[in-house]
Amino acid sequence: YGTASRNGQGHLTIGGVDVVDLAREFGTPLYVMDEELIRQNCRAYVAAFRDHYPDFDVAYASKAFLCTAMAALVAQEGLSLDVVSGGEIATALQAGFPMDRTYFHGNNKTAEEIRLALEAGVGRFVVDSLHELELLNRLAGERGTTARALLRVTPGVEAHTHEYISTGQLDSKFGIPIEGGQALDAARAALQADHVELLGFHCHIGSQIFDLTGYRVAADRMLAFAAAVREETGFTPSELSLGGGLGVRYVEGDRPLPPADLVACLAEAVRSGAAERALPLPKLIVEPGRSIVAEAGTTLYTVGTIKEIPGVRTYLSVDGGMGDNIRPALYHARYECAVANKLDSERTRIVTVVGRYCESGDVLLTDAAVAADVAPGDLLAVFATGAYNYSMASRYNRFPTPAVVFVRDGRADLVVRRETFADMAACDVLPPRFRPRAE
Ligand code: LLP
Repeated sequence: YGTASRNGQGHLTIGGVDVVDLAREFGTPLYVMDEELIRQNCRAYVAAFRDHYPDFDVAYASKAFLCTAMAALVAQEGLSLDVVSGGEIATALQAGFPMDRTYFHGNNKTAEEIRLALEAGVGRFVVDSLHELELLNRLAGERGTTARALLRVTPGVEAHTHEYISTGQLDSKFGIPIEGGQALDAARAALQADHVELLGFHCHIGSQIFDLTGYRVAADRMLAFAAAVREETGFTPSELSLGGGLGVRYVEGDRPLPPADLVACLAEAVRSGAAERALPLPKLIVEPGRSIVAEAGTTLYTVGTIKEIPGVRTYLSVDGGMGDNIRPALYHARYECAVANKLDSERTRIVTVVGRYCESGDVLLTDAAVAADVAPGDLLAVFATGAYNYSMASRYNRFPTPAVVFVRDGRADLVVRRETFADMAACDVLPPRFRPRAE
């Protein structure tokens, strides 16, 4: 992946930095992000749009991985930012992110978050329901402003990895269904709202997608919907967001498509769909998350106990686990790993990599081939952990959340320091009646 390589000592290097040095300096578990690869991925989307489509925006989906430095990097690369919470907005603000380049998503935004977003100057509210539309209209009115909005609709396309399913997709907590006319009614309501300016529509069909068919179908349905709205209301959308979802390579056999293929497909589908209905070309927006950061992330762990149950299996324990990577436990997600300080050893030992959380399901990899001479104290690198790992970290068992470093050109910069026990206890309150009594 990216700048990952092997040096003369048989150690893994990322961004020109020996991971053994990283572990020594920053401790483990450690999230290591290949800054160059993140930047290349951002640029791949932008370059593809420049080749294929006149008016576009690439909004990085923060949920995949966000910290202040990441928001700053996204700003430097000229991308926009998709945020889904007050917390993500606060992080963008802390980074000095140009807030007019943010899209605020979420199916249940609170009044408090909407007020914060209005105050921060969020660029687009991606309105998910009639309830939210009314709330937004009222709160924008109270502030004496107008909120710019896209309506999130469900086009009846769901894409999962290699397949897409065309369903009514009524059964989703996100968005307003096109089928049955609810989305059209919502568009009417948005056009009538005094303090909301409707600019267009949004949909998101899924995540970790390897096949473009679902995107093509969704783009066409969105344009058909846009044409129906124009017919009923006279409103012509100027913006169309088709969400994120491009797949990445977690394990050998995953065959992700380059961003250029997705962009070319969407550009073509939107062009022909718009031409067919005599609609002007809308600004085309995508929201990639995983495909920007997943492959850029590597988690470093220190190997601890190795428990061999003869004829059954060998458990190799590391000093992290489901708290820093919930994806195997939650989705049966698969990863690849290597003993990062023994890349020259033969990979003949088959182990099941487990964490140190009090939970039998705390398994990171099953039957992974690792260095034959793996031993306690070695470093285990798990690859492609840049998306939905740090951002989904938990404090189960009160293990502190690991640090994050960005590596590039032989240097490492700490961007999130390791949590301390004191950080974890910082929100605890001990009411007087629980305090130990002085004898
Ligand atoms: N836009 C919207 C509206 C979304 O809901 C999502 C992801 C994205 C963009 C970014 O999708 P991406 O390019 O990252 O696939 N926790 C799960 C993934 C949840 C995705 C949720 N929505 C996982 O670890 O696989």
